[in-house]
Amino acid sequence: MVLYFSGTGNSEFVAKAIAEGLGDELISINNYMKDGIAGDFVSGKPYVLVCPTYAWRVPLVVEDWMKTARFDGNDDMYFVLTCGGSTGGAQAYAKKLCDKIGMNFRGFRTVVMPENYIAMFDVPDKEKSERIVNAAMRPINNVIKTIERCEDMEEKMPAFGMFMSTLVNWVFFTFIVKDKGFHLEKDCISCGKCAEMCPLNNIRLIDGKPVWGGNCTHCMACICGCPAECIEYRKASQKRRRYWFGR
Ligand SMILES: Cc1cc2nc3c(=O)[nH]c(=O)nc-3n(C[C@H](O)[C@H](O)[C@H](O)COP(=O)(O)O)c2cc1C
Ligand code: SF4
Ligand code: SF4
Repeated sequence: MVLYFSGTGNSEFVAKAIAEGLGDELISINNYMKDGIAGDFVSGKPYVLVCPTYAWRVPLVVEDWMKTARFDGNDDMYFVLTCGGSTGGAQAYAKKLCDKIGMNFRGFRTVVMPENYIAMFDVPDKEKSERIVNAAMRPINNVIKTIERCEDMEEKMPAFGMFMSTLVNWVFFTFIVKDKGFHLEKDCISCGKCAEMCPLNNIRLIDGKPVWGGNCTHCMACICGCPAECIEYRKASQKRRRYWFGR
């Protein structure tokens, strides 16, 4: 069973490709989170979690949700993390998570996809994004073959990866992941898509305009998915291209 969390479509694409390659079931964690439902799964095949890397680790919201879910049937779990450049020490977090939820850690694979974190970085243009996605097909196909053969799939972690990940994501989740910086700058057309797309139900429309509620994981779905491009994050997102897989 392939489970995925995705803000802007990269991990969804990778998860779909893996599920299709394995002929396996595909489950969106976003939907479970949005509906406030704990997962209760049974699968004869290994579980595969596909999600983005946030500050060199499995996103905290994903980890928290995984800890409340039940995984019956097969005991094996693989992790595939999409990222814009490096997953740092995320593999160590994935192993720890497996221990906590009583699953067998069978492997970890990094899949480099286009950067989506417009609150901090520029994102690649359409042409460059396509090149990155084409190159990603190789590790994706490799993941499919490895799981089909029931093999382990460990990656060499960068030196000091775990130490750096711990430091980076403490600073990151304590000081940076806040929704206070989101605001409107151009005309909002009151379509409600931002509220619809937020996996944490953190946005409500009041008088037709979005209001952020303080429970945000910086997935970038609202700011990148807004059809009017009227959401900004502090000054950082101004003049930056919005990223969404395939657009
Ligand atoms: C909050 C946040 C933190 C991120 N941290 C990292 C990181 O530590 N390393 C990295 O290479 N990419 C990082 N990225 C980029 C994403 O992991 C990458 O673009 C991913 O494929 C997005 O997946 P999605 O479209 O499924 O949400 C980060 C993106 C966000 C939004
Ligand atoms: S998605 Fe954009 S245009 Fe639509 S309601 Fe939200 S902010 Fe307004
Ligand atoms: S408020 Fe926006 S960035 Fe934060 S979790 Fe919701 S969609 Fe993602």
